[in-house]
This record gives sequence, C-alpha cells and structure tokens, in this order.
Amino acid sequence: MEGAGTVSDRRVLLIVGGGIAAYKCLELVRLLRGRGIAVRPVLTEAGSRFVTPLSLAALCEDRVHTDLFSLTDEAEMGHIRLSRSADLIVVAPATADLMARAAAGLANDLATTLLLATDTPVLMVPAMNVRMWNHPATQRNLTTLRADGVRFVGPEVGDMACGETGPGRMAEPAAICEAILEALSPAHGPLAGRRAIVTAGPTAEPIDPVRVLTNRSSGKQGFAIAGALAALGAEVVLVAGPVSEPTPAGVRRVDVETAREMLAACEAALPADIAVCVAAVADWRPAEVSAGKTKKVAGTAPPEIQLVENPDILATLSRRADRPALVVGFAAETETVEAHAQAKLERKGCDWIVANDVSRPGVMGGTANTVSIVSAAGIERWEEAPKTEVAARLAARIAAALDGGPA
Ligand code: CTP
Repeated sequence: MEGAGTVSDRRVLLIVGGGIAAYKCLELVRLLRGRGIAVRPVLTEAGSRFVTPLSLAALCEDRVHTDLFSLTDEAEMGHIRLSRSADLIVVAPATADLMARAAAGLANDLATTLLLATDTPVLMVPAMNVRMWNHPATQRNLTTLRADGVRFVGPEVGDMACGETGPGRMAEPAAICEAILEALSPAHGPLAGRRAIVTAGPTAEPIDPVRVLTNRSSGKQGFAIAGALAALGAEVVLVAGPVSEPTPAGVRRVDVETAREMLAACEAALPADIAVCVAAVADWRPAEVSAGKTKKVAGTAPPEIQLVENPDILATLSRRADRPALVVGFAAETETVEAHAQAKLERKGCDWIVANDVSRPGVMGGTANTVSIVSAAGIERWEEAPKTEVAARLAARIAAALDGGPA
C-alpha cells in the first residue's frame, strides 16, 4: 500500500464530539488502524451520549480519555503530554459548540484543554445542522480557527438526521481518512520533491548597538505561505526577519536581521524550484553602524543618518543564472496597486507579483488580505480572505503552474 510505510508509525489523537455523526468515528478508527495509524481516543461528555467509551476503546485498543480532572489520568499522562503524544489531532464530529469554544480559546473540558495546550496540527471535521453551520457566529469561528492554522474537511452538502438539507453533514470516514493521510504525509502532496525559499517579516538595519531601522511587517502572510507550501509537500526554507510568529509545521527556519543577511541565507538555500519573497526588506540601511551607543549631547544638533541602498533580494534571485523556475514577489502598495505591480514585475524580473493594497485598514499586522496576482498572462483579482487562505490558494496556484498549468 503506497504511503503506508511513511505514515504507519504515526499517531492520531481523535477527539469525538457530541453529535449524531459520532458513530462514523468508529468506522474512521477502523480505516486508520488498517493503515497502521495508532489512534488515541478522547470522548467529550456530549460525545459519550452517542458512542460508548467501550466501543471506542476496543477499536482503538487504547483507553479512552474523558475527564479533565481524573486523578489517575493526570498520574498516568497529563493533558499536556496527551496532546503532544500525537502527530495530528482530529476533532470529529466538530460541533458548533466545540468550534466556538476552540475559537475562543476556552479550556473548560479535556477536549478544549488539549486543543489549547498543543502546537500539534489540528484537523476538524464539522457536523451540525445547516442553520447552525451557516450562522454568522459559526462562520466567524471557522475563519478564526482557519487563521489559527486549523485544517478542515467537510462539511458535505446533503440530507441530515434533523430532516434538513444543506451543508452540515459530516464528511464520510473514507474522505476523513484521506485528509488525515495527507496531513500526516505531505510527502505525497503536489509539491513533493520541490524546494522552496520564502522570505518573510521585516528586516532590522542597525544604527548603533541598540537602535535599528525597521518596519511594521508582522511576517504573518509569509509564514502562512511557507506553511502552505510545506503542507503540499515542498521542502521549505523560511528566511525570517525578526518576528514573533511560530514556525509552521515542516518548515526549516533561518532567522536573520538585515537585508544582507537575508540575501545570503536565500543564496545559501539555492538551488530551489520556487522563491516567494514576502519580506518587507528595508530599502536602505545606515551607511555606518556606530560601534557604541550614540549619545545625546546637550546643545548639539541631532545626528544625521546617512543611508545606502540595500541589495534587492527578489531582483537578485530573479536574475541569477540558477534562478528558481518560479519567482514570486509581493508589492505592498497604497495607490494604483495593479499599475505599480506591473512595473515592478518588469523591474524585478520575477514571474508573478502578488499585489496587496495596504491602504485597506487592518492589512498590516492583520489576519486578512485582498490580493491580485499580476503576471505576463494578466491580472487575477482575488476576494478578501484570511491570510492563511490566501497562502493556501497561492501554494495551490504555484503547484499547478509548476505542473505545467498556467504560469
Ligand atoms: N524586495 C526584496 N529586496 C528588497 C526590496 C524588496 O526582495 N531590498 C522584495 C519584497 O520582498 C517584495 C518586492 O520586492 O517581494 C516588492 O517590494 P516593495 O518594497 O513593495 O517594492 P520596492 O522595490 O521597494 O518598490 P517601491 O519602493 O516602489 O514600493
């Protein structure tokens, strides 16, 4: 069975929520065990009304964890260790209530405590009444969870136990199993065997040992792109300026401070198939860095800082003889966004420019982005979306282009 060798030593922590679809989890466990994946079950109180701890334990061949305050549980395996004991946490069914509590960061039962106490990737499988799914509150929670890096499979559209029809049905066990296999083994993704370099965050250019020239870039979009490329199987080197974002799963991170360090780290990561330059590189740096802290001297004029131009990382990578097959730049603009992006495409010699309008409130440091993809083929305008969704779409677009699709 192809792929079984790479995932057979993997462990899934399965949180079973309370919903009529919970019965499908028993079949899911059977499928996962058949692929050699160990499943450790957690049953919420509501979940235990739909499936019995006994049937779950028997299929998983493991004890069922149910109660946050069980002393024997804490003695045997605390909830922190429990959440770290898995390669993937799966929540199925993810009810509207579980999604809401997870999105709010609550920790009022074992399931939500595990979700809050972990940096293990999470896959949620929603199942609920169609009106509950479509309610703005649930959609808001979905956006929040996605922005937090949670992946989703389903819900499907169809007839539901409550007699209504629409989106809300839990995905079938086979589809959930496929999504789990993909999450556990990105080496089978469409970018498997491809190498990618992503720059992200600001650079910080020293003035003296305590002062720097920098900017407000949060690194969120670049980090999300690095994670999305890795999720499709790419081997990703993320060259990051000083930011506090967590490193996405499966990504090799190189921390740098200055533009020159960022360029050197990118060049050291070559050869690559893909380069995505998202970093807000400082265009200039102080010509001289004073060895000691510049002191304020009463009665004298403020010091003048002479600036020199930094290397352009995007242009340098685009023009190298061993340039990556696909070089993507970003353009943060406040006016005539697409015209500037077209000009930048030519000036920098890259293949695509992802133009984003930073004049919109909340883009810098925020979680959403409205972008257009500008290439020789024309302009594609994308709807406003969370940065994680923009990243996933861009990664899929990159995979399609390298596969011979539209460049
Ligand atoms: N970039 C880079 N190295 C630099 C400057 C920019 O790699 N020294 C990359 C950014 O990562 C981004 C793209 O170039 O992908 C566009 O950067 P931007 O700062 O928007 O463009 P500029 O070249 O600075 O042009 P302008 O000042 O006109 O906006």
